[in-house]
Amino acid sequence: MKDDYNRKFCVAPMMGYTTPYARKLYRILSKKTFLFTEMIASKSLLYSKNKDLIIENDNDNPVALQVGGSEIDDLKKCSQIAHSYNYDEINLNVGCPSKAVQKGAFGACLMKDKYLVRNCLEALSNEKIKTSMKCRIGLGKNLNYEFFEEFIDEVVKSGISIIYVHARNAILSGISPKANRSIPVLDYDFVKRIKTKYSKITFILNGGIDSMDKAKNLSKEYDGIMLGRLIQNNPFILKDVDELFFDDNKNKSIDEKIITDYFNYINNKIDIESIYRLLSPILHIFFSVPNSKLFKIKVHEKIKEGNLVSIENLFLDFIKQKRTNLN
Ligand SMILES: Cc1cc2nc3c(=O)[nH]c(=O)nc-3n(C[C@H](O)[C@H](O)[C@H](O)COP(=O)(O)O)c2cc1C
Repeated sequence: MKDDYNRKFCVAPMMGYTTPYARKLYRILSKKTFLFTEMIASKSLLYSKNKDLIIENDNDNPVALQVGGSEIDDLKKCSQIAHSYNYDEINLNVGCPSKAVQKGAFGACLMKDKYLVRNCLEALSNEKIKTSMKCRIGLGKNLNYEFFEEFIDEVVKSGISIIYVHARNAILSGISPKANRSIPVLDYDFVKRIKTKYSKITFILNGGIDSMDKAKNLSKEYDGIMLGRLIQNNPFILKDVDELFFDDNKNKSIDEKIITDYFNYINNKIDIESIYRLLSPILHIFFSVPNSKLFKIKVHEKIKEGNLVSIENLFLDFIKQKRTNLN
């Protein structure tokens, strides 16, 4: 198993967002960022007819496949599949609080049963691929470090060496998944404290990192950081990551090549995938660029016509006109 990757800067798994297309754009913008798929339920991974579309990895490594599930035999197979699709890591979701996920007996509710989580991680583990977990710091309204520590004490017996921690509790009833990303308070100290106990385990901090400055400062204190919504809203800031976090001084600017590389990839997909899913990552180029409304309107008109060539040309024009705003 090859794993010399640095997880100093990771993009969080986000359902509906970290699609193969978004990951392609992220990879064009940053060679070093560690990427994640969306959470994929183990049953979908095993039986979905669209499986290839969901889990495609076009050599966008380093990248982890995140699975949601708790059935041991399924998880063993999922790990094999992740390896066969050239993923570097298989990650168990122990953080999603949604009702549907609880019904399927996976996600954050698994924190109630640390022995089951250990068994799941053991099922995922094999010599071909790295295994990791993404969890919360606890359940319910009250913070309880002892609960978190005992949970980690058990799961590390599975032999995993990488843990991503969304540093807030999950509240399993009464609030939505979205509210579960803001209402439970953040407590980064849980991650700091557990690291002092398990110095050899890589703990990646996640939750509420909403600027590159904050990301840079926190990356000095933790093994690595993981960002979700900042990248969801503005993926183009990834152009600065290799320089800021990996001392790669090949400064990347937003130029025509980013557009042509991206369209070269999606051009072959238009017959098998929805044009909205293909284009949604790159539409974020308009984020906070002044006077881009007209471009947006034109792009949406062209999307209805389904003509990728004319959409690509619009993006190229946009770069020409807004280069200084973008870089
Ligand atoms: C739209 C959306 C979808 C998400 N889907 C997943 C998911 O599939 N798996 C997961 O572990 N977390 C998921 N999350 C949570 C993020 O991975 C991350 O833990 C959370 O957003 C906190 O990080 P942030 O404050 O940097 O956004 C999702 C978050 C968002 C905004």
